[in-house]
Amino acid sequence: MVFILTEKSIKREQWGSKLGFVLAAVGSAVGLGNLWGFAYRSSQGGGAAFVLLYILVVLVVCLPIFVAEFALGRNTSTSAFLAPIKAAGPRWAPLGWLFLIAPLAIASYYAVIMGWTADIFIQSLFVGLPLNPEESSSLFDSIHSGKRDLIGQIFSLGLGAYIISGGIKKGIEKLNKICIPILFIILISLAIWAAFLTNSGVGYRNFLLNFDINQLANPTTIRNAFSQAFFSLSLGIGIMITYASYLNKKSDLPKQAIQIASLDTIVGLMAGLITFPIIFSFGLGETISKSTIATLFITIPSGLGQYGSIGRLVAILFFGLAYIAAITSLISLLEIPVATLIDKFKIKRNLASILTVGFTFIIGIPSALSTNILGNIDAIANVLLILGGFLVSFLVGWVIPKTLDIELKNSGSSSLTKAYLKFMLKYVTPIIVAWGLIISVYDLLKGWLS
Ligand code: PHE
Repeated sequence: MVFILTEKSIKREQWGSKLGFVLAAVGSAVGLGNLWGFAYRSSQGGGAAFVLLYILVVLVVCLPIFVAEFALGRNTSTSAFLAPIKAAGPRWAPLGWLFLIAPLAIASYYAVIMGWTADIFIQSLFVGLPLNPEESSSLFDSIHSGKRDLIGQIFSLGLGAYIISGGIKKGIEKLNKICIPILFIILISLAIWAAFLTNSGVGYRNFLLNFDINQLANPTTIRNAFSQAFFSLSLGIGIMITYASYLNKKSDLPKQAIQIASLDTIVGLMAGLITFPIIFSFGLGETISKSTIATLFITIPSGLGQYGSIGRLVAILFFGLAYIAAITSLISLLEIPVATLIDKFKIKRNLASILTVGFTFIIGIPSALSTNILGNIDAIANVLLILGGFLVSFLVGWVIPKTLDIELKNSGSSSLTKAYLKFMLKYVTPIIVAWGLIISVYDLLKGWLS
């Protein structure tokens, strides 16, 4: 009895408005994954074939999982660590752990990449851009070595802790309401600018029109499409569960899932419409196809460096945009451990934020010191997201279908929408994700062993 009273007396925060929730979820989804991941994955796996697979995965797999995560979060009103247990009992505790480990792993290296982004932004603002790929690569070497790296990482995590300790409405929601409109304005302006570059057509062709049908069966392309979809939409990791736990009972979950997924996909495509023309205008296509995350930090600055002061302005906008996109994603990653600490140990948000950020910093040091380690953690984390997506769809589709019913009813969904989502989460989505998971693990191991 006493326990119940205490539970009730701690009132859970809520989003200030529906729009606030949608913007926060878009903020989480739109991040470095859209600006970098989309471009390098598409150039690795044959352009249009990758884009097509990506869109199919979003429609068939990710949209239903979105609704499943939202339903689970809103129904249980608790963070992703506890939600599976609360919904389906202690046997589901491992899924909670997955939802704690995966965001910490991603946040650990994400903050490092944000540090590089901030560094190049400052470099473009105050110093200028490198004039050729050699200069650019030595600039990147100095950026990601030693102290400079750690400073960027600490700065980004500190900023994250500051925002997140402000809470849901005054921290996360407020930041997104300011950042998302700015982000769209910069993005549209840059895409228009890129369209007028001399070789923009070659860039577009490589990105969207170069269709090689064999790529559809290439395990790397398939893995890339699944990884990109889950990473870019922040799915399979518990973020959408946690964000939905702050929702009131009335909002329409399927509609919001569609809004968020479409905005995120549009940003990914538009980012490609910016990066590809820049890269191909200077014949830098070779460098990016072999790319790791780091290469774009070399390719884009050296491409823009050849445009004089306009190029410098574009670099300032582009890296500023990337940083804004990234901070709204970083806080969503940090929110899971923070919410878990608050929900489980009833500690204050400030303390939870400091503990989370401190821990994230420590586990991120290896990634700050080695891009190789960073790349491997990224690859593993991406597979974990697909695993998380499989487990969520199985949980909601098979184990707690009633929860889905209740939440779709609360959403005011039509009977067609209800029937469609229930069918997908039961018979289609889990099977396709399981297939994607097997191929991704196979492709990852193959890469490591060869
Ligand atoms: N979606 C973010 C991006 O595209 C990254 C992210 C992944 C954020 C998983 C939260 C969870 O960059």
